[in-house]
Amino acid sequence: MRCGSAWLLGLAGGALSNALVLEKRNNPAVFEVPLIKEHISNQIAKRSDFLNINFTDKASDFYAYYANFTFGSPPQTFKAYMQTYGNGCWLRGVNNWECELYKDPSSCDGYGGYNRSTSTTAKKLDEKFSYDDNGVTMNGDFVTDVMSIGGVKVDNMKMGIAGRDDVTSNRLSLGYGNASSTSLTQALVDAGAINSPAFSLWSESVLFGGVNKAKYNGSLHTFPIVNGSDLSKALRINMDGISINGTAAASSAFPIDAVFDNHIAMTYAPKSVVEALTSHFANVSVPDELGQVNFSCSSVSEYDTIEFKFGDLELQFYLSDFIGHRSDELDGSGYSIDDDTCYFTIAENVDEDLQKQGSIVLGTNFMSLIYSVFDLENGEVSLAKRNSFIVPDDIVEIKSGKNGVPGAKKSSASSGVGSGLVTCLMLVVVAMLNLTL
Ligand SMILES: *[C@@H]1O[C@H](CO)[C@@H](O)[C@H](O)[C@H]1NC(C)=O
Ligand SMILES: *[C@@H]1O[C@H](CO)[C@@H](O)[C@H](O)[C@H]1NC(C)=O
Ligand SMILES: *[C@@H]1O[C@H](CO)[C@@H](O)[C@H](O)[C@H]1NC(C)=O
Ligand SMILES: *[C@@H]1O[C@H](CO)[C@@H](O)[C@H](O)[C@H]1NC(C)=O
Ligand SMILES: *[C@@H]1O[C@H](CO)[C@@H](O)[C@H](O)[C@H]1NC(C)=O
Ligand SMILES: *[C@@H]1O[C@H](CO)[C@@H](O)[C@H](O)[C@H]1NC(C)=O
Ligand SMILES: *[C@@H]1O[C@H](CO)[C@@H](O)[C@H](O)[C@H]1NC(C)=O
Ligand SMILES: *[C@@H]1O[C@H](CO)[C@@H](O)[C@H](O)[C@H]1NC(C)=O
Ligand SMILES: *[C@@H]1O[C@H](CO)[C@@H](O)[C@H](O)[C@H]1NC(C)=O
Repeated sequence: MRCGSAWLLGLAGGALSNALVLEKRNNPAVFEVPLIKEHISNQIAKRSDFLNINFTDKASDFYAYYANFTFGSPPQTFKAYMQTYGNGCWLRGVNNWECELYKDPSSCDGYGGYNRSTSTTAKKLDEKFSYDDNGVTMNGDFVTDVMSIGGVKVDNMKMGIAGRDDVTSNRLSLGYGNASSTSLTQALVDAGAINSPAFSLWSESVLFGGVNKAKYNGSLHTFPIVNGSDLSKALRINMDGISINGTAAASSAFPIDAVFDNHIAMTYAPKSVVEALTSHFANVSVPDELGQVNFSCSSVSEYDTIEFKFGDLELQFYLSDFIGHRSDELDGSGYSIDDDTCYFTIAENVDEDLQKQGSIVLGTNFMSLIYSVFDLENGEVSLAKRNSFIVPDDIVEIKSGKNGVPGAKKSSASSGVGSGLVTCLMLVVVAMLNLTL
């Protein structure tokens, strides 16, 4: 009997309903934008943008994802965070103070700011750009210009140009826009590059308009986008539970709205949930001002697991994927149980701006472990466990209209019993009974 890593992959329980027939086209209207993984501070967004400049904590493994693109004619080259939370697209202008001060490859994203006067296709709009990025307010002009990304051209991409004093980095928002801002996803539909405002996201790429079946295990499970009370529209679904080694944490608190934010390094959850999770650890510290705790590394085993439950989908990972190690050196496996102080990368959601995003904020530590599909037209998110084995691409297009995500299953109410861990433990019990008999 082996309860090893083989079953520690996308565990999907419950009966599967509404399975769709896959449709594969010869030339699907999809395209991929490769992502660049970059270390960021473990601080929350508004601070990381500033601390980024000289972030040197080599003991941490926190990151966010950039993409390359050009804007203007002749093309000016930029990098921008591809962001699931937020509804705008903006670039720092050439007069932005960071771009003026640090004209070396390690600052202002290495390329300087956007200079509208060198672009023959730039159009300044009458409308002013004003945007609150998690507490940092940016102001500037809106322009339209020619954008090129992942080999696709958008002739009239509307972009906010952040002016002199603003400090946040370039962003291309993937979600819903608002009355003034267009998201990249919507702009690509408007430009005819994709048929439906939908994209897949995994740790290497954004695939607009399609699903790459080679990049996940099991099947996709589909969930409706929900409104948090008092929260603005975002890529947010309900989560039905978190457990450690199959033991549910604060189950009465669930379901809880959970928002996807791949620009935040850690995952944030309500106090009751984090306290229930950390009750498995020894010598847990008082949370710091960012809601993060320390504990004794020796109190967790390398085989401990953590499960996230969405309807009848249970995503199980090693708990060590959510544990950082306070030490001068990072060993190959990320942490070592022989060393003293560890910290948990699921923290209490104490920051006011973060609370405005959602009750649970799923950061890159969670998002890099999953394959996700965001279907903006139908207001649905599909999830599966990321497959990190290298297999040939199998790309299918996401159709416009209902049930557009190929191969996805609508998730019904929780079934709760599909856990491979439970099955495995039951098999162990049966095997032991057989031995004693
Ligand atoms: C992004 O651009 C840089 C500089 O041109 C290049 O070195 C890098 O390979 C590009 N990365 C991707 C993923 O396209
Ligand atoms: C970053 O750190 C280096 C070395 O400590 C220092 O020389 C440089 O001025 C710092 N840059 C910024 C923007 O603080
Ligand atoms: C922007 O481009 C114009 C025209 O090429 C140039 O004269 C100006 O110096 C540039 N601005 C900055 C701040 O580099
Ligand atoms: C769009 O969203 C941003 C960020 O939440 C906000 O600052 C801006 O005021 C919004 N614009 C409109 C027109 O609602
Ligand atoms: C996940 O997919 C890979 C490649 O297709 C395969 O090798 C692996 O066995 C799968 N794992 C599970 C649990 O299905
Ligand atoms: C979410 O709230 C918006 C208004 O803020 C409303 O138009 C929409 O119908 C709501 N969606 C759901 C699923 O309740
Ligand atoms: C966690 O441990 C580190 C190093 O031992 C220490 O610097 C830090 O203050 C601790 N944090 C808390 C919240 O106790
Ligand atoms: C808790 O901390 C004490 C003092 O550092 C240590 O002796 C003990 O082993 C720790 N407990 C665990 C379970 O690691
Ligand atoms: C979790 O399960 C693993 C593997 O069965 C075991 O080694 C570990 O002690 C358990 N941890 C806790 C906190 O129960």
